[in-house]
Amino acid sequence: MDYFLINGGSRLKGTLSVNGSKNAALPIIAAAILTEGETILRGVPDLEDVKHLIHLMEQLGVRVHRDETGALHLKVQDEMNCSAEYDLVRKMRASVCVMGPLLAKRRQAQVSLPGGCNIGDRPIDLHLQGFKSLGATVDLVSGDIHVRAKRLKGSEVFLGGPFGSTVLGTANVMMSATLAEGTTVIEMAACEPEIVDLANYLNACGAQVVGQGTPRITIHGVKELHGCDYTVIPDRIEAGTFMIASAITNGDVTLKNCRLDHLLAVVDRLRAVGVTVERSGEDVQVASTRRLEPITVTTQPFPGFPTDLQAQMMALLCLADGNSIITEKIFPDRFVHVAELNRMGAQLRKEGHVVIVEGVRRLVGAPVMASDLRASAALVLAGLIAKGQTKVARVYHIDRGYYHIEERLNAVGADIRRLQE
Ligand code: EPZ
Repeated sequence: MDYFLINGGSRLKGTLSVNGSKNAALPIIAAAILTEGETILRGVPDLEDVKHLIHLMEQLGVRVHRDETGALHLKVQDEMNCSAEYDLVRKMRASVCVMGPLLAKRRQAQVSLPGGCNIGDRPIDLHLQGFKSLGATVDLVSGDIHVRAKRLKGSEVFLGGPFGSTVLGTANVMMSATLAEGTTVIEMAACEPEIVDLANYLNACGAQVVGQGTPRITIHGVKELHGCDYTVIPDRIEAGTFMIASAITNGDVTLKNCRLDHLLAVVDRLRAVGVTVERSGEDVQVASTRRLEPITVTTQPFPGFPTDLQAQMMALLCLADGNSIITEKIFPDRFVHVAELNRMGAQLRKEGHVVIVEGVRRLVGAPVMASDLRASAALVLAGLIAKGQTKVARVYHIDRGYYHIEERLNAVGADIRRLQE
């Protein structure tokens, strides 16, 4: 098993290019099930999660290959198989996003019900409620969800839950409604840029989706979708992680392929901390040369501060000059990094879904364990600034969402070695 050895203390300086978005690419890849003809997807990162989904797509009769330019080609060849088994869903929860396309195109889907994961309980009740509103029947059989419908009929679907809207739930219902009869209106839809990207892809394939990016998405059903050539948006979470890497090392990093309009809440909080974030032509420059101010951060659905950057922001605030408060409103148990950061000398106190961060003068290197994708990113960031050596075990978690993060950070001055246990 790979681990990272990080020698802390280097100041990051230089240019990093942000890859295509994992969380935009995953549902778009699944959406290819809906289409006739070939989809060419550009900018899809070569990550473990993407590989898992490609494997599932192949099981579902979709031919997938990457060409020499890195573009992914997808084409449905066989529509017989409609099931995603536990082994794959267990490895990657986002596999549930094949459910909507399978239901719409093949009239049924059998997908293992995902269990909880390291970031907490992750129900899919809202996805299922959405399918039912479109006329599907839903049964739970031996841990598998069976959804079926002779035909789907457009309807009004409310997708609000106790923690707000649902991103993959909105994706699933939107995808299934593209081929339904009539018009579907999703109320309290997720507004995340990844949902806008999916809607734009579907429209490029001939779908009629309007209102993406707002809480009301309207989908006029069409008879069929064709293939298209599409480029996924840059990964806002990777960009935010790199911004925090620059900030935590008092660095000066320029980001290429960075959509600042997807990161307004993050930029707002970084500026409140005292970090400089500025456009520089097409690029974004992130620099920090002064002490860090303590702040409050509350995670929220887009356009609020993303839960996927909460752990990384916590690593930064460990070094602020005073007490910060972080409130997690999307996944109230998403705090596996707290105990690990404390092992590095942080002063964090968790009270329910709030963490009080008492700023310390420095973090110290220690052996720590990655146990979720973004938590691992936070530990790497902490390692960059910690005094001495930090060993981050189980980096396969980080490989799920960041392509060769160590090589890219090393290119701007970090000292991270990937070694094997
Ligand atoms: C997506 O997960 C992302 N995953 C997550 O990124 C991200 O943290 C999350 O959205 C929130 O932004 C992908 O895009 C592949 P939700 P998703 O449904 O769609 C509750 C990462 O690190 N809920 O928007 O599964 C749920 O428990 C990953 O890249 C219900 O109650 O998240 C949570 O509290 C991790 N019922 C809230 O809604 C449901 O049916 C938001 O979850 C569905 C969700």
